[in-house]
Amino acid sequence: MNQNFLYPLYIILFVGFTALLIVVGCERQPTHPRQPIDFSHKVHVGEYKIDCEYCHSGVRSGPVAGIPSVQTCMGCHQLVAATEPEIMKLREIWERGEPIRWKRVNVVADFVYFDHYPHVSEGISCETCHGDVGQKDELLPTPHLHSMTWCVDCHDTYEASKDCMICHR
Ligand code: HEC
Ligand code: HEC
Ligand code: HEC
Ligand code: HEC
Ligand code: HEC
Repeated sequence: MNQNFLYPLYIILFVGFTALLIVVGCERQPTHPRQPIDFSHKVHVGEYKIDCEYCHSGVRSGPVAGIPSVQTCMGCHQLVAATEPEIMKLREIWERGEPIRWKRVNVVADFVYFDHYPHVSEGISCETCHGDVGQKDELLPTPHLHSMTWCVDCHDTYEASKDCMICHR
């Protein structure tokens, strides 16, 4: 029996299956694979208007803004979106009593001293330095944070100190 008539069918099946794999592959690709949990500032800040300081509570007490603990996340996520896959991952981390190993986005060189407190207490908004975080799903490095000219120019504008020793201790 001649089975040649089946070839088009094989091709259709092959193309269809490949397309399906690609679609499934894209679906499962986390949107920001750099981080262990697919956390979005756009959702939390942009849509749900959660205050920066609810999560980064260190900005008024010292140099480091701080990244929220798993406990802070679970304060909402014991209930909110509890059955979503990323939240189930979060719950597992919480139940194991582990921290989330977030990858740092911006790391300023060791020889530079930066302190959030004097800036925030001066009324400078987070967005002035970090950009419109509430519009971003994934935060990417902000090169100006590593630029001495950027720091010094603004100190000039505000008549803040430009003494080398305040930033290089
Ligand atoms: C003040 C409450 C609150 C806190 C605190 C909070 N979230 Fe959320 N989170 C939400 C809300 C509301 C949503 C949107 C849920 C929805 O759309 O169904 C959300 C959505 C998410 C999602 C997407 C879930 C999905 O639909 O797939 C992830 C992941 C997530 N949060 C992770 C975190 C992490 C990690 C922390 C801690 C760093 C955190 N959240 C802290 C309220 C909170
Ligand atoms: C619901 C909690 C939550 C809120 C609200 C929130 N953040 Fe975050 N933020 C996080 C988490 C978790 C990370 C670490 C993961 C990442 O980098 O996306 C982070 C990371 C960051 C980083 C990068 C830190 C680094 O590694 O350099 C900046 C900058 C930042 N947030 C600024 C803000 C600003 C500004 C706001 C308000 C407009 C804000 N965040 C509101 C939870 C939050
Ligand atoms: C004058 C500029 C400036 C302002 C204003 C500012 N930041 Fe930052 N922020 C920086 C710089 C510079 C770094 C990197 C510091 C480092 O690596 O030591 C940083 C780092 C961070 C980090 C990660 C490291 C850490 O300190 O935990 C978070 C989170 C963050 N900022 C959140 C915020 C939030 C939230 C606000 C507003 C309440 C804010 N920042 C206001 C300049 C600023
Ligand atoms: C948007 C403007 C702005 C930017 C950008 C900025 N600063 Fe500042 N900075 C200020 C102001 C205003 C003060 C408060 C001055 C005062 O209290 O008299 C200040 C104070 C400081 C202080 C404390 C000074 C003291 O007297 O103890 C340090 C340290 C500092 N800045 C470092 C930095 C570094 C490092 C950068 C860049 C990574 C930076 N700043 C970027 C405006 C800025
Ligand atoms: C307001 C904060 C601030 C002040 C004031 C400041 N610096 Fe810097 N400096 C920085 C930052 C931020 C960097 C970049 C660090 C990095 O590469 O991440 C830097 C980098 C440098 C470097 C490394 C080379 C380079 O250009 O990257 C040298 C050297 C240096 N500063 C010397 C000085 C001297 C000398 C003074 C006084 C005249 C001074 N700084 C004042 C913030 C400051």
